[in-house]
Amino acid sequence: MSVAVPYIPEDAPFTSEQRAWLNGLLAGMFSSVPRDSAAQETGQRIAVLYASQSGVAEGLARKLAKELKAQGYIPSVSTLVGYTAASLAAESCALILASTYGDGDAPDGVEPFYEQLCLERFPRMDKLSYAVFALGDRHYEHFCEFGKNLDAKLAALGGNRLADRIDCDVDVDEPFAQWKAFILARLNEDSPWQSPRPPVGMPELKPPALPTDAGADPKRQAARAFTRDQPLLAAVIDKRSLTHLASTKSTLHVAFSIEGTGMSYEAGDACGVIPANDQNLVAEILQKLRFNGNERVSSAKEGTTTLYDALVHEREITRLNRKIMQGYAERGDCAQLLDLLKPEHQTALEAYAYDRGFIDLLIEFPEVIGDPEDVVTLLPKLAPRLYSISSSPAAHAGQIHTTVAVVRFVAHNRHRGGVCSTFFADRTSIEDRLPIYIQPNKRFKLPANPDAPMIMIGPGTGIAPFRGFLHERRALGHKGKNWLFFGERSSATDYLYREELESMQADGHLTSFDTAFSRDNGHKIYVQDRMLERAPQFWNWLQEGASVYVCGDASRMAKDVHATLCRITREQGAMSAPAAEEYVGALQEQHRYHRDVY
Ligand SMILES: Cc1cc2nc3c(=O)[nH]c(=O)nc-3n(C[C@H](O)[C@H](O)[C@H](O)COP(=O)(O)OP(=O)(O)OC[C@H]3O[C@@H](n4cnc5c(N)ncnc54)[C@H](O)[C@@H]3O)c2cc1C
Ligand SMILES: NC(=O)c1ccc[n+]([C@@H]2O[C@H](COP(=O)([O-])OP(=O)(O)OC[C@H]3O[C@@H](n4cnc5c(N)ncnc54)[C@H](OP(=O)(O)O)[C@@H]3O)[C@@H](O)[C@H]2O)c1
Ligand SMILES: Cc1cc2nc3c(=O)[nH]c(=O)nc-3n(C[C@H](O)[C@H](O)[C@H](O)COP(=O)(O)O)c2cc1C
Repeated sequence: MSVAVPYIPEDAPFTSEQRAWLNGLLAGMFSSVPRDSAAQETGQRIAVLYASQSGVAEGLARKLAKELKAQGYIPSVSTLVGYTAASLAAESCALILASTYGDGDAPDGVEPFYEQLCLERFPRMDKLSYAVFALGDRHYEHFCEFGKNLDAKLAALGGNRLADRIDCDVDVDEPFAQWKAFILARLNEDSPWQSPRPPVGMPELKPPALPTDAGADPKRQAARAFTRDQPLLAAVIDKRSLTHLASTKSTLHVAFSIEGTGMSYEAGDACGVIPANDQNLVAEILQKLRFNGNERVSSAKEGTTTLYDALVHEREITRLNRKIMQGYAERGDCAQLLDLLKPEHQTALEAYAYDRGFIDLLIEFPEVIGDPEDVVTLLPKLAPRLYSISSSPAAHAGQIHTTVAVVRFVAHNRHRGGVCSTFFADRTSIEDRLPIYIQPNKRFKLPANPDAPMIMIGPGTGIAPFRGFLHERRALGHKGKNWLFFGERSSATDYLYREELESMQADGHLTSFDTAFSRDNGHKIYVQDRMLERAPQFWNWLQEGASVYVCGDASRMAKDVHATLCRITREQGAMSAPAAEEYVGALQEQHRYHRDVY
């Protein structure tokens, strides 16, 4: 009788050889030898390190540490913000969970650690065994780049890889569970205690229940009860425009009821929304493909579905990336596309993909797809979109508010719209129920000290979490001073939440309030210009222990605001440029400089 060991599924990201080996080890671990007693003998120290911005990698690091502890190891969990490369060199075993931001960069505050590793004469890490779990999102050009760089750097320094790096897309749970099982087995194999081979004829075992870590706080447990795979269908209770009809843009306030659902959140968290594509665009795609939409295709959830439903509910059709273009070009042998995909044409490829969608491939390179199944193989799963929550649980009980900028533009003779923002704008009415979940943002929270001053810089939809923070602080009776920098295009048409903000200014809850309307005058005025105008006061607030928060556009605004923060520090603190950078880096390490940028 053969031994069935169903721990690691067939589609897990391992080779068949690795899977067989791992299944064998796991079977051994969970058979006759009590794991705890064996693990107690190891007593091995393991550094669990994370590079995280919105908390996903941090959460996984804590879960991993908990599991390691249960297995008898001595884990220490630490962020890479403020961590030194020398500390890492002193470890014998490090498990690193690293997410990627910006253009393939490290999360905020982690760069100094990586720069230390890159110093020319950095000592070798021959004694270090390590493994990297890289987190990212395939929609970004530099997928998991920081995790990849870190893994390569540690190997180059002589580190011994315990396991191949895993590059994980946004659905982290399954790959993490598999990586964790693999790592535990690997550690177990390397430890003095060896798991016995499963006895021949061992009966089929059920997979070990992977421990869940909902955290000690019951509020957070409820928040995790709804996930992107099991969202809450929440009723829309308010939808109104925050911008004037005459505005050059459209920003909406959309509120959901979560009353009595058990869902909860904290100010600073984000709301994930699972949208549906525009049916007119889907109809046009089907027409170009010459399919009627009733064809059966594999579903992203389970089993099969119609091609029409897959295109409306399951697949990305408004975004292009290298992988989609590569698959399409190879299927159709499209010479022009294949040329664009050459590494030396990266910039041209990014420009091509930026304002085009699947429909453009079908129009520009027709007759490539003959099999409906190819459509679902080619297009990635429709990802949820995140929106910073603009309400406060203390002030808006039973509700979640969001502030949504509607993405519309004309490109290549076609009116286009972002999936989710136009889903809100064009295809959602009050009382509709939308699938939502909470994406906790552990690093973007009110100061722990209710008396600490805070400075919030949030142009455009960047205002969202700060509206939540201001209401929360008032409802909780926090006495700390509040300073808001808000910017938009025009004061007459784009002054989001004007009445609320002016009323908070009038009653003193907003101790200081600066606006920057970029298109009201002949020349642009941005939030960072206002920061510079108020540089002495800004510096005084920092000296008083203020925390600085930035939210909104990542591509330009957040970089310029960061540079301005360094400039104010340099000029007001009479420091050299490197000393000012160090000061700002220290603010990050002390959790006094937070960014929620997208
Ligand atoms: C943590 C976090 C918090 C966020 N909070 C908010 C928030 O509070 N409010 C908010 O509005 N958004 C917020 N966002 C952004 C939000 O998640 C969506 O990305 C945004 O609404 C666009 O999604 P969409 O589905 O409408 O567009 P998509 O369908 O994703 O976008 C379509 C594509 O259109 C292209 N495109 C976009 N604009 C243009 C243009 N002007 N010209 C040419 N091409 C263009 C881009 O290539 C884009 O990928 C947040 C994002 C994150 C990660
Ligand atoms: N194209 C679209 O239709 C559309 C719609 C919504 C959102 N988005 C994208 O979504 C993100 C957020 O958009 P949003 O509506 O919140 O507002 P936003 O586009 O970030 O604009 C808010 C304000 O910030 C200003 N701004 C521009 N560059 C800046 C900089 N370097 N430093 C400081 N301020 C700067 C803008 O001025 P100016 O615009 O006058 O320069 C505007 O006054 C952005 O990435 C944006 O590109 C695009
Ligand atoms: C503004 C922004 C930029 C990002 N840039 C990248 C990127 O360049 N490459 C990538 O693979 N993922 C990128 N991501 C995705 C994150 O790495 C991913 O969501 C990760 O799970 C976040 O982990 P964290 O919560 O630990 O920070 C980006 C996410 C955001 C919000």
